[in-house]
Amino acid sequence: ALQRSANIHWQHTDVDKAVRARAKGQRPMCLWFTGLSGAGKSTIANRVERQLAAQGYHTYLLDGDNLRHGLNVDLGFTPEARVENVRRVAEVAHLMVDAGLVVLVCVISPFASERDFARGRFGEGEFVEVFVDTPLAECEQRDPKGLYAKARAGRISNFTGIDSPYERPVTPELHLHGEGRRAEQMAEQVLAYLKDRLA
Ligand code: PPS
Repeated sequence: ALQRSANIHWQHTDVDKAVRARAKGQRPMCLWFTGLSGAGKSTIANRVERQLAAQGYHTYLLDGDNLRHGLNVDLGFTPEARVENVRRVAEVAHLMVDAGLVVLVCVISPFASERDFARGRFGEGEFVEVFVDTPLAECEQRDPKGLYAKARAGRISNFTGIDSPYERPVTPELHLHGEGRRAEQMAEQVLAYLKDRLA
């Protein structure tokens, strides 16, 4: 459990998010990609980031897989570990948005309560939940890392969609239907949504 000390106060800083973002000429934002393993989160987010970067936006991509090599190296895939994993990622994304960046986050984030926690760290219009909705059967058929095969063979436990739940987002800002669709198309859908929302 988190220990919050009564003796720790919030330290005000004179330079705030708006000032930092103005230096970049952009509106800070968090794009939160959620979905099953193999749904296409990273592929889509990569394409979106590439386009945004080409347009001059200062971006950063936080990928669950990559963060588990460092910041979250101590965490596995039990429900408790995922809660902590997503909490940390949300806090890092929050810091980066505070720094004025456009942040793309790719984590399965299977629990609605943790996605809501993440949303709650951001202001109105700053958090865009992107549900990469690719059916389990298609993710399993793609199986880019061979993990579904391992999970089916009982060599990985707590695998999302197999023996660990995924709670589907009910009202995401963006719902991408991944079945039979290419990542480029879905990236275009995200960019179209962002068009008037990013300064
Ligand atoms: S979570 O649920 O948000 O904490 O997961 P995340 O940090 O995004 O990590 C998911 C990636 O880890 C690999 N992997 C597993 N996924 C799900 N369940 C189990 N048990 C598991 N073990 C390893 C998998 O490659 C996920 O990557 P993506 O990019 O989502 O396919």
